[in-house]
Amino acid sequence: MSTASDTSTPARPPRRKILVTSALPYANGAIHLGHMVEHIQTDIWVRFQKMRGHQCLYVCADDAHGTPIMLRAEREGITPEELIARVKEEHEADFADFGIGFDNYHTTHSEENRELAENIYLRLKESGHIAVRTIKQAYDPVKEMFLPDRFLKGECPRCGARDQYGDNCEACGATYSTAELKNPVSVVSGATPIEKESEHHFFKLPNFENMLRDWIRSGHLQPEVANKLAEWFESGLQEWDISRDAPYFGFKIPGTEDKYFYVWLDAPMGYFASFKNLCDKHDDLDFDAFLGKNSLDKDSDTELYHFIGKDIIYFHALFWPAILHGAGLRTPTAIFAHGFLTVGGQKMSKSRGTFINARAYLDHLNPEYLRYYFAAKLSSRIDDIDLSFDDFSARVNSDLVGKVVNIASRCAGYISKKCNGQLSATCSEPALYQRFVDTGEQIAALYEQREFSHAMREIMALADIANQYIDEQKPWLLAKSEDTTQQAQDVYSTGINLFRVLMTWLKPVLPEMACEAQDFLNIDTMDWHDCGQPLSDHRIDRFKPLMTRVEQEKIDAMLAQTRNELAAHTSAERSTEATEPGPLQADPIADTIAFDDFARIDLRIVRIKKAEHVDGAKKLLRLTLDLGGETRNVFAGIKSAYAPEDLEGKLTVMVANLAPRKMRFGVSEGMVLAAGPDGEELWILHPDDGAQPGMRVK
Ligand code: MSP
Ligand code: ZN
Repeated sequence: MSTASDTSTPARPPRRKILVTSALPYANGAIHLGHMVEHIQTDIWVRFQKMRGHQCLYVCADDAHGTPIMLRAEREGITPEELIARVKEEHEADFADFGIGFDNYHTTHSEENRELAENIYLRLKESGHIAVRTIKQAYDPVKEMFLPDRFLKGECPRCGARDQYGDNCEACGATYSTAELKNPVSVVSGATPIEKESEHHFFKLPNFENMLRDWIRSGHLQPEVANKLAEWFESGLQEWDISRDAPYFGFKIPGTEDKYFYVWLDAPMGYFASFKNLCDKHDDLDFDAFLGKNSLDKDSDTELYHFIGKDIIYFHALFWPAILHGAGLRTPTAIFAHGFLTVGGQKMSKSRGTFINARAYLDHLNPEYLRYYFAAKLSSRIDDIDLSFDDFSARVNSDLVGKVVNIASRCAGYISKKCNGQLSATCSEPALYQRFVDTGEQIAALYEQREFSHAMREIMALADIANQYIDEQKPWLLAKSEDTTQQAQDVYSTGINLFRVLMTWLKPVLPEMACEAQDFLNIDTMDWHDCGQPLSDHRIDRFKPLMTRVEQEKIDAMLAQTRNELAAHTSAERSTEATEPGPLQADPIADTIAFDDFARIDLRIVRIKKAEHVDGAKKLLRLTLDLGGETRNVFAGIKSAYAPEDLEGKLTVMVANLAPRKMRFGVSEGMVLAAGPDGEELWILHPDDGAQPGMRVK
């Protein structure tokens, strides 16, 4: 049924079906500017595809499972479900305020994901890709849990540096196995770990050696990523431990009682779970049809892309395609890895105050500044991206405010005031206009290849041409004489039309500004192919400043807020966070702490059931505390002020969610509040009699 006339229609690329993801942020921390590199990069690419008329869907989710999330919830005295619900809300708000246009944002702790994880696991098992065997692992006898490497600390077996993590030394750079660590302690309880056996489930990655060898060389990866993987291949593929013992926050492995899927097994499946969740909300979206279930690449015409940071390549470019292939499912079309964000040329750092949260940025600065700045720096390679605030201000002020917005602002006044908002009836510079339009295909190719920095350079070169054109025509002089007012209107109208083309090319990067420009230009749509013809005899709206200059004071305020938040957080974190070294270190007291930090401290009324001397301790008494049902063992340095029998039966206040700490005499499970000269703990606090054991102190 093809007809000859088909060939005369202008060539538009066929409508592609594309599913795009950004890596799923962990649900135990805030979104920071490092995450934003990735989400801004992905969002620009997705918005570009949508503007080109493709069916492009962008899904993401919170990565909700794992030990750190379980422990953090415990410390906060809430369930993991409560924690991940709260964090998800914060994450979604941060992303929305940065203009990240997800089609769906879900969580890996969802029924869709449970079903996917179980199904995929069972298929792998049926196909003989799962091995089960017993291994030895570090175990915390107090907390009664197996310890992941980062929950073990001790002395480096090479250089003796103290306080080093389970598998590598920050002082000398050595890597080792946790068994080699000297004087190891559990970061969770302070106890000395023991070795314990347990049965684990492994994914047999070596079964996929041939498949992966082909896959990594078939255009699915950036060249430098493929080379990196080739190196890993040289050192041999190992079976991958995909199970964890209870207690763990995750999905139980089918057919087991106390084994859970390791967080990294179900995390990438969360991409599909989020998409499934989206499909279930829309009648016109079909999960199976879109993804080509049961089929591999070649049978599905839907493209699938994962944007990720360079630190998680191994998971996405080896495990994930192998798992999908092993389960008889399609593999990704491509993995797009990016580099890391550095600030002022250095790794983002809490102590330097350069670990900037998305919210701190949003409290002070326009999100589109950062979208543009990252776009101006991003390429398809995996080099790190540096944020330097001088450069940031200079770029935004000179490019966006000085070049792009300037075109509109210098042209709009005259059109509004002297022409009643009306643009000229014909375009006086068709060739110039056409040149701008024609550059669109080159810019589109750059967006497609994720060469955003190059695309921004092309767009700014056009902005320079537009400004030069206006400079040369001097319409403000033409406007002065009655004879040449038409020419003035023509020049200004051309300026407005050139601005429209530029805003169209910038729209993937600056959606909010483009939306305001659309209002100003009085146009309904701003899609890629819309500006083929200039606006003529068209009425525009009054011009409002589309973007103001970056102000140094705002940057300073953001950095100050970041430093304050970090100081407040650090002091709370030192004593409560299992991942941090120091319950035993002296903490500087922060000038102020956030209310949230205060609220995280679980202060409880307790009754002292028993008080006893401790053999060999000069200052300590052992207290048995009743929290209204629960009992705790706590050591308190109050011996010189009290005889044990004076304390029994009395009420006092304790910090109930302090991480347990192993002391010479046993484990202390909290702390009672006491006061004394120079910070010595001596006299305990007594609440009035109305208080009852177990009540929260607020
Ligand atoms: N939860 C995993 C991803 C699972 S995907 C199935 C994870 N989470 S993360 O929160 O640590 O990181 C999320 C993404 O942000 C990752 O792609 C990571 O590379 C990226 N970034 C985290 N810090 C970053 C920078 N400082 N700079 C750039 N990207 C960074 O990993
Ligand atoms: Zn060392």
